[in-house]
Amino acid sequence: MSSKLSTFICQNCGTETSQYFGKCLNCNSWNSIVEEIKNKTSKYKEVNNDKKAISFNEISSKKISRFTSGFKEFDRVLGGGIVPGSVVLLGGEPGIGKSTIVLQSAGKISLNEKVLYITAEESLEQVKIRWERLNQKSNDLKIYAETNLFLIIEEIKRLKPSLAIIDSIQAIHNHDMESSPGSVSQVKACSSELQNLAKENNIGLLIIGHVTKDGALAGPKTLEHLVDVVINFEGDNISSHKLLRSIKNRFGSTFEIGIFEMLEEGLREIKNPSSVFTNKENISGVTTTITNEGTRSFAVDIQALVNKTFYSNPRRTTTGISINRLHQILAVIEKHVGIKLSEFDCYIATGGGFEINDPSSDLGVAISILSSLKNIPPLPSCSFIGELGLSGQVRKSNKLRTKIEEAARLGFKNIVVPKSDENLKKNFRNLINIKEISNIQEAVDFSFLE
Ligand code: TYD
Ligand code: MG
Repeated sequence: MSSKLSTFICQNCGTETSQYFGKCLNCNSWNSIVEEIKNKTSKYKEVNNDKKAISFNEISSKKISRFTSGFKEFDRVLGGGIVPGSVVLLGGEPGIGKSTIVLQSAGKISLNEKVLYITAEESLEQVKIRWERLNQKSNDLKIYAETNLFLIIEEIKRLKPSLAIIDSIQAIHNHDMESSPGSVSQVKACSSELQNLAKENNIGLLIIGHVTKDGALAGPKTLEHLVDVVINFEGDNISSHKLLRSIKNRFGSTFEIGIFEMLEEGLREIKNPSSVFTNKENISGVTTTITNEGTRSFAVDIQALVNKTFYSNPRRTTTGISINRLHQILAVIEKHVGIKLSEFDCYIATGGGFEINDPSSDLGVAISILSSLKNIPPLPSCSFIGELGLSGQVRKSNKLRTKIEEAARLGFKNIVVPKSDENLKKNFRNLINIKEISNIQEAVDFSFLE
């Protein structure tokens, strides 16, 4: 017996309620609640009950053999390639290049594996135009333009590819449900059907999902726990650089990033990110820090502009670091270097607008601010690493050795780092001059020797 049940679902966070509210009780967003009709009948599935619980030594310890996505940068974010039978969610704003990267990748993978690309947003002809623009080679790649979930499942079952790509989950429709494609309940239902199919048949699944303006995966946010890997494709429309960032990875580390450049003929990998985010110039207001992202460390410039203010409240803006971090650094400078900054506007921008999450960039920000204020370039060929504590001390940095190695590789002559227990000087004797410091004043004294 089937009966219809009305529920109210927040399209922002997926919270379900039994009545309408103007404001979601969970995420506080306004007018995000939509009524959706659910089929109350549970679809009981015949399950295979041959399976029994077993002990560890009965499980074969086969090493997982991953296959490459065709891009080293993409593979790193995936944790070393695609794990057969895994489900990967690739999120990003519309127009960022999700369809482009997956189509390029699909071509490369298809040289060795069977790939099915399901386009629910574009027609076969549109995909063909993109394909020709990308100038790719393919072997075992099939394209299927469909939005009906059940037809898609049938086609995946028929072809049994190593990898099926769904572009995008918001365009797919489960006709058992009355809500429209893209709504939270559709996205949830379609994904869990596809996920079961992938796991039962050991088919890798790459699901594309659009994100909202504030960066949350719209609808797919509620899928994050379902899938094995969540990757975000980020960037802005101004710069051609795009970043893949792993947010969740059951098979690798998170916060790993892969860097690409969007060209006329598709995406190109950037193998040496330091070259993209630094200018290597010794001018006032600019320093370089070495930041750690996942398993990689690379250099990023930090630019500051400090000007006498014309406002009653000085202006503080940042690109690439959080505004709260800047407020904290300004307070530390005021208190522990003894320089009053309340009459100055302060603007901070990282090289290429790269978003730095590593707190050891603090010292670079502080020295850039002081350099701009004094109008004196900092010590030439010097990079800065260190998190600023509230009492002016410079705190230890993670992955310090790899950061110093990267600075030495890039040809920096000096590097300012927090004092550490390791004998860094001995390890890097002829490669780079290491200045170990314990507080911000020491860093200032060293950076502005004149
Ligand atoms: P697309 O992959 O369609 O984005 P998404 O699937 O995330 O919505 O990429 C769209 C943008 O990429 C579009 O503005 C055009 C640009 N582009 C290039 O610059 N070069 C190319 O070779 C391709 C295919 C797209
Ligand atoms: Mg697309």
